[in-house]
Amino acid sequence: MARIDPHSYFDDSQSRTRSWRLKLHVDFSRKVLHGTATLCFESAAGGFLDLDTKALTIIGVVTEAGAAVPFELGPEEPILGRRLRLRVPAGAKEVAISYETSPEAAGLQWLSPEQTEGKKHPFLFSQCQAIHARSVLPCQDCAVARVTYEAEVTVPAALTAVMSAGPAGEAAAESGRRIFKFRMPQPIPSYLFALAVGELEGRDLSPRSRVWAEPATIAAAAQEFGETEGMIQCAEALFGPYDWERFDMLVLPPSFPYGGMENPRMTFLTPTLLAGDRSLVSVVAHELAHSWTGNLVTNATAEHFWLNEGFTVWAERRILKALHGPEAAALAWGIGQKDLEEALERFKDKPELTLLRTHLEGVDPDDAFSGVPYEKGARFVVALERAAGEERFDLFVKSYMKRFRFQSITTEQFCAFVEESLPGLLAKVDAPAWLNGPGLPQAAPRFVSRNLEAISALALGWNEGRRPDAGLIARWTATEILIYLQRLPREMSLSDCAELDGALRLSKRGNHEILAQWLYIAAGSGYEPAFDRARLLLLKVGRMKYVRPLYQALGQTAPGRKLAREVFAAAAPTYHALTRRAAQSVMEKYPS
Ligand code: BES
Ligand code: ZN
Repeated sequence: MARIDPHSYFDDSQSRTRSWRLKLHVDFSRKVLHGTATLCFESAAGGFLDLDTKALTIIGVVTEAGAAVPFELGPEEPILGRRLRLRVPAGAKEVAISYETSPEAAGLQWLSPEQTEGKKHPFLFSQCQAIHARSVLPCQDCAVARVTYEAEVTVPAALTAVMSAGPAGEAAAESGRRIFKFRMPQPIPSYLFALAVGELEGRDLSPRSRVWAEPATIAAAAQEFGETEGMIQCAEALFGPYDWERFDMLVLPPSFPYGGMENPRMTFLTPTLLAGDRSLVSVVAHELAHSWTGNLVTNATAEHFWLNEGFTVWAERRILKALHGPEAAALAWGIGQKDLEEALERFKDKPELTLLRTHLEGVDPDDAFSGVPYEKGARFVVALERAAGEERFDLFVKSYMKRFRFQSITTEQFCAFVEESLPGLLAKVDAPAWLNGPGLPQAAPRFVSRNLEAISALALGWNEGRRPDAGLIARWTATEILIYLQRLPREMSLSDCAELDGALRLSKRGNHEILAQWLYIAAGSGYEPAFDRARLLLLKVGRMKYVRPLYQALGQTAPGRKLAREVFAAAAPTYHALTRRAAQSVMEKYPS
């Protein structure tokens, strides 16, 4: 018996599922999925098979011959959920599990029509990373156990279903329903399983890329993401051929808890990216880059999450550098530097969560989530890149992709491959300090940009009365404004708040990164003229990146706490479970 993942009952000495065949009914009135998940084995199976489940009702299990398969659901474990142990008869090629999800499934959010742009139809979306696939279907919920899948999804006739898969036509359905068929021929880890159902419209961006959104949003989405094909070509030049055939995207309703999620063939995106000026498309570059770093070569478990995110942030900035030049890339590194400092500050009492190679037995991966694997991880990759030289490192990255294509690996496997390909490189950069030590190593790479220094100096001089002049402000791009705001004091006088808001017209910004940065300052300073805008954001937007720090900043003053409690009471029922938990954990630390 060998369990290899602290977050899964997956046992690599048991039969391995190679593919899934799903028949799912989407029931909006009861907020459940119900149907069958058929798990097909690599070779004829037999013996115990341990699966992950969370909040699932298991109705029955049979083999392809119709023989009942005895099963036992273990006790509920707080992070893992319940182990589903099947006793598979010898020689079985597949087991069909009839089951139903719970309305509280952590991996699904069921939206009322009021929570959509169109206000007419309900919406459903999944978010399986890190370990929520088990609340959507019973499975070996560990990234090492890759599967291909086929699915038939029955939905109300007015709605469209999309998945992290290719469309495979429609099947005949009873009246008032539609059955969408899908096929995912490339093997994926369970966390990349994805489904969304809503009133959706698609718009082609290029022969291999399409964006989906609600009808009210589709034109803006097609305009915002018009550069996608150029990004794909740029990424192929850097990292090798795109292996997933299509790169489609779905713009979700605003409660989506992340900026983006790299579901293969169907990246999920927050509508807060629709700034109108393409200034936030680096998130698309990031999710696209995961097609190589993450989806082709995948972290074996959440303890190696930096392999996914650190490499992808590095890759995202290589794409940015190729498309928009080194200066643009340096500014992105500058924004990341600040994110990293904030993450290290947030975990100052939990330094063990600032290692790249983490140890997460008993820790919920959602609680370990921070900017550390992203920004420290990306800096480690740059340290390797600089020590090897860009040309040699680019060749290394391509051979790394080839070697571990469609595999899920550990930090230790990564290091062994580096040592084999570029002997001595790990020692040269003191890899153990990066991987097994807390915080950021002294010798971490720096990114120099005169522009970045100048904007930082201006912001750091705020309390001494330094101000950008109107001409400079007018020339600033969205990224430059963001850098400036990130570096201003988190608390300032009410008159300074008014001056800042007036000079930069902050309360009226459609760019959510800028708007959020402003609201952190305004909330932290108790600047009540901005409270209405903060309320609006917290009522509508569920993206945790904004929601957590905004509740945090509101906690600094008594009027802020009053607003936070009032807004949370109204918004909590509409938040995604993850967002609700994040907001709650911040508010629990408010002084009473
Ligand atoms: N895969 C992540 C999102 C994620 C990570 C979801 C862990 C659940 C658990 C995605 O690729 C991501 O990193 N999104 C970022 C955007 C990015 C530009 C840093 C986000 O959501 O902000
Ligand atoms: Zn990512």
